[in-house]
Amino acid sequence: MRILITGSSGLLGLNLALELGAAHQIIGADRNPLQSPPFEVAVADLLAADAIPALLDETEPHAVIHCAAMANVDACESDPEMAACLNAALPGEIAVQCARRGIGLVHISTDGVFDGETGGYTEEDQPNPLNVYARTKLDGERAVLEAMPQAVVARINIFGWSASGSRSLAEFFYYGLRDSEPRKGFMDVYFCPVLVNHLAGVFEDMLQRRLSGLYHLVSPACLTKYEFGVQIAERFGFDPTAIEPVSVADFGLQAARSPRLMLDTGKLQRDLGRTLPDVYAGLDRFHELFTQSYPQRLSGMLA
Ligand SMILES: NC(=O)c1ccc[n+]([C@@H]2O[C@H](COP(=O)([O-])OP(=O)(O)OC[C@H]3O[C@@H](n4cnc5c(N)ncnc54)[C@H](OP(=O)(O)O)[C@@H]3O)[C@@H](O)[C@H]2O)c1
Repeated sequence: MRILITGSSGLLGLNLALELGAAHQIIGADRNPLQSPPFEVAVADLLAADAIPALLDETEPHAVIHCAAMANVDACESDPEMAACLNAALPGEIAVQCARRGIGLVHISTDGVFDGETGGYTEEDQPNPLNVYARTKLDGERAVLEAMPQAVVARINIFGWSASGSRSLAEFFYYGLRDSEPRKGFMDVYFCPVLVNHLAGVFEDMLQRRLSGLYHLVSPACLTKYEFGVQIAERFGFDPTAIEPVSVADFGLQAARSPRLMLDTGKLQRDLGRTLPDVYAGLDRFHELFTQSYPQRLSGMLA
């Protein structure tokens, strides 16, 4: 399959491109491309006029995995117009253009569309986004499914190694612990992240089975952000007490955060006929990738 991955310099896009590149022809799309990545790259500002039709006509993919976004929650709060362009209008345009050309589409969304008051959310539950990021991502989901009901919209939560070393919570804990910098972890915010490398096989299965519609794609096991930091410390041989457990309420965060982002993944597990990769297996692999100098391989691609 020829797969176009937008945001292929970012946390998710780069790892997907590397993993899927073993079995598929990958074309990354980026405005600031990496240095000599092992896949083809189409340089494009996705917000430029006519960028999407031109990109699809030049690259002729069988499927698009749309990862490019404004993924920084506080940056979205500061620039809601740009967040709306990137997270809502752009996915809608990609869906319109993919539908017109018969190209498969996996659009990436977030668990953050829920307010996290109860947890256990299914795809049928009503979202209630608490911040600009989540609101614009929800608008993006709706725009995609309206333009292209046969697209997949996957609500995810992720961690992994990135080229910049600063894109995931796992890197925040690892580099802080390594450099003896103080690190705090929220003991009252639950999430269910999946290692980005593990998502590649799931998206591949979803495309091959021609799934469509909304799916929750998170780890079946969940934990607090503090516990996640402790798990990182233990795997890398750091002192877990170096992480201070704190309450999210004690932080003056610019954008409100959802406390219990636990999503029900039953629909996807049923439709794929298998269990989803969980956070603990992901943490093991995250450490194993480190022992294989994977973070250096990624940072070496920064121009
Ligand atoms: N990170 C998480 O914890 C998390 C959790 C849930 C859902 N998600 C979702 O997962 C997806 C991927 O997130 P991520 O963490 O991989 O984000 P990321 O690391 O910030 O990567 C975003 C990518 O989009 C690119 N991009 C942004 N604007 C662009 C434009 N106008 N033209 C071309 N490329 C552009 C960025 O390029 P530049 O570097 O040049 O800006 C970057 O490569 C997003 O949809 C996000 O909402 C992420």
